[in-house]
Amino acid sequence: MFETLTKAPGDKILALMGEYAADPRPTKIDLGVGVYKDEKGVTAVMTAVRKAEQRILDSEKTKTYLGIAGNKGYGAAVLDLALADSVDRSRVRVAQAPGGTGSLWVLMQLINRARPGATVWVSDPTWPNHNPIAENSGLVVKTYPYFDTVTRGVKFDAMLAALDGLTKDDVVLLHGCCHNPTGANLSPDQWDKVAASLARTGALPFIDLAYLGFGDGLLEDAYGTRRVIASVPEALVAFSGSKNFGLYRERIGAAILIAKDAAEADVTQSQLLNIIRGSYSQPPDHGAEIIRTILEDPALRAEWEAELNAMRNRMIRLREKLSEAIRSKSNSEDFDFIASHRGMFSLLGLENSVVEHLKAENGVYMIGDSRINVAGIPEDRIGDLADALLAAIK
Ligand code: LMR
Repeated sequence: MFETLTKAPGDKILALMGEYAADPRPTKIDLGVGVYKDEKGVTAVMTAVRKAEQRILDSEKTKTYLGIAGNKGYGAAVLDLALADSVDRSRVRVAQAPGGTGSLWVLMQLINRARPGATVWVSDPTWPNHNPIAENSGLVVKTYPYFDTVTRGVKFDAMLAALDGLTKDDVVLLHGCCHNPTGANLSPDQWDKVAASLARTGALPFIDLAYLGFGDGLLEDAYGTRRVIASVPEALVAFSGSKNFGLYRERIGAAILIAKDAAEADVTQSQLLNIIRGSYSQPPDHGAEIIRTILEDPALRAEWEAELNAMRNRMIRLREKLSEAIRSKSNSEDFDFIASHRGMFSLLGLENSVVEHLKAENGVYMIGDSRINVAGIPEDRIGDLADALLAAIK
């Protein structure tokens, strides 16, 4: 049977991780996959996570099943964290899912049950895994204008004009904060306009919230999501705990749905649970129990928030230092946008040949579209990195 298959394309982000690991040069710099690194270049387990894990180890009495929607305390804590009181909870349902990707997957399946073959509009560009998840779910992907390659900001007028042209049969995938891959984000005023447009057209907002707390703060980063869901009758949110809790390999996320009333929320949730049961049955618990333990305990939560704030502030400092180094070495403001972007990434706008050159000559690894993970910038070698970038674009 397998002779019918041809080789599938690899994932460019995960493939680059392998290439970096195999590079023997001690001076190599990893600006590739979206994984936070501290000043030693290590993706450490957060202290609050370690403490929560110890508590779980000491107190857990059973490993029996929790049910299709997973850990209920986790679900409630994530709703408090992401949505707060922006929408009446009687219209909201949540199901724990394996990572942000698993959450996107089950929600895309749900869309396809509600509107088979519906069109999902994604930003141009978007996270490369959005397209396969949507297409493997039977949906059609189209793009709306987003990144302005000249200003390195958001082409907001063009984006809004495209959203204004959608109908109630369309789905709009929005990055709740910390846009991946560009690093260019909507201002609160722009979110207000997007929310008003969605309310007018009836297009379904689907918010990918994978980096809450990595941009300007937990509250600031939730603004867009809360504003949108407060303005529309129906919405979907895919939450990830991979980055803000550093739980990457635990695969912890949440699929959240907002329906027009409680009765429709129940029906829609029954379909979501049916999708989950028919795929992986129930989600794994460990990551969910860690997050529940942290968010329900004021002291642990404060510790987690302090760690998250330190991570965010470090990324902002690295952004400022890199753009400042490039400015002083080149006497140009061409890379100042790195300092104004937010989240883990910036799209540098380099040709692929420049990206390949940096990898081959300098051991500087970034995604082929020239996305850098700012957390991977080595603070003590920012001058070297700026020199390598400037030499490569000459
Ligand atoms: C990334 O964009 O690098 C991360 O979200 C990791 C991944 O799964 O692609």
